[in-house]
Amino acid sequence: MKAELLKALRQTDDYVSGQQLCSRFGVSRTAVWKAIRQLQEAGYEIDAVNNRGYRLKSAPDLLTTEEVISRLHTSFMGQNCICLDSVDSTNNYVKKIAENGAAEGTLVFAEEQTGGKGRRGRVWETPKGKNIAMSLLLRPQIHPAHASQLTLLMAMAVREAICVCTGLEAGIKWPNDIVVNGRKVCGILTEMNTEVDYINYVVIGTGINVNQREFPGELREIAGSLCQNLGQETSRAAITAASMDELERLYEIFLQTEDLSALKDGYNQACVNRGHGIRVVERGGAYTGTTEGINDHGELVVRKDSGEEVLVYAGEVSVRGLYGYT
Ligand code: BTN
Repeated sequence: MKAELLKALRQTDDYVSGQQLCSRFGVSRTAVWKAIRQLQEAGYEIDAVNNRGYRLKSAPDLLTTEEVISRLHTSFMGQNCICLDSVDSTNNYVKKIAENGAAEGTLVFAEEQTGGKGRRGRVWETPKGKNIAMSLLLRPQIHPAHASQLTLLMAMAVREAICVCTGLEAGIKWPNDIVVNGRKVCGILTEMNTEVDYINYVVIGTGINVNQREFPGELREIAGSLCQNLGQETSRAAITAASMDELERLYEIFLQTEDLSALKDGYNQACVNRGHGIRVVERGGAYTGTTEGINDHGELVVRKDSGEEVLVYAGEVSVRGLYGYT
């Protein structure tokens, strides 16, 4: 009930009467008051005034299930959400609960990861209480070959959430890094369990550097955080919930065609590689060229310097700017 109560208080800047809350949740005045007390003890400033009711004055920056759910506007994405204090990797956790039948849209986030995983077997650091480490469970009824495009949907959703919640201008570095002022603020790792022609489940793991102020030596040139760009801390719960809102919208559009035909223009507008010289490094060597963005399937369309047009598939290559990370 605490999440619902917060949602009701967040819907207005004015007071919400105790009676209204009682009827909305079908509980007694004492039950409402008890929940309000618990929220106050957790750091929420809630005015309680006789004959007027309750008004939310301020909320602490907590990444809790109540904080996330009370901000969601989705029908299923993130509605079942689990908050962990510490875990090896939220992706591993979601894979386990997926095997036991967890529902599509289940979202798991953790304050700390002790074995966070990045792409290409790299390590992803999640220091305690600073950033967002979250993994989402999807069970799309689509061909497994199309599932990698879901990662691009998540990139679009997180980028939009960052822009809306912070006012920062975020872009996407193909395929799925989010960058702000040339530094990576978010990475996404998608893992799947599939049959030949059937998806059991997809886990989309997203790490967003929100309130981390410093990065260790080798990352300093590449990684950044929202806080570094804003000069102040920002709400992790707001960004998490806004990402889920946007992802649910994009997912419904994607499922109609199982491709990005209706979404690629939006992606390409946000793509920082577009119109820039890029260097594509693949197993057999490297080449340079330019790109106008992705096609309907999320592949990067690259015009090599030789004039030849090639399609670049995520996972096989690394794409860099000619003069640095983007
Ligand atoms: C990358 O290398 O860019 C991808 C990083 C993905 C990190 C996230 S944090 C939440 C989830 N759990 C993990 O172990 N990895 C992903």
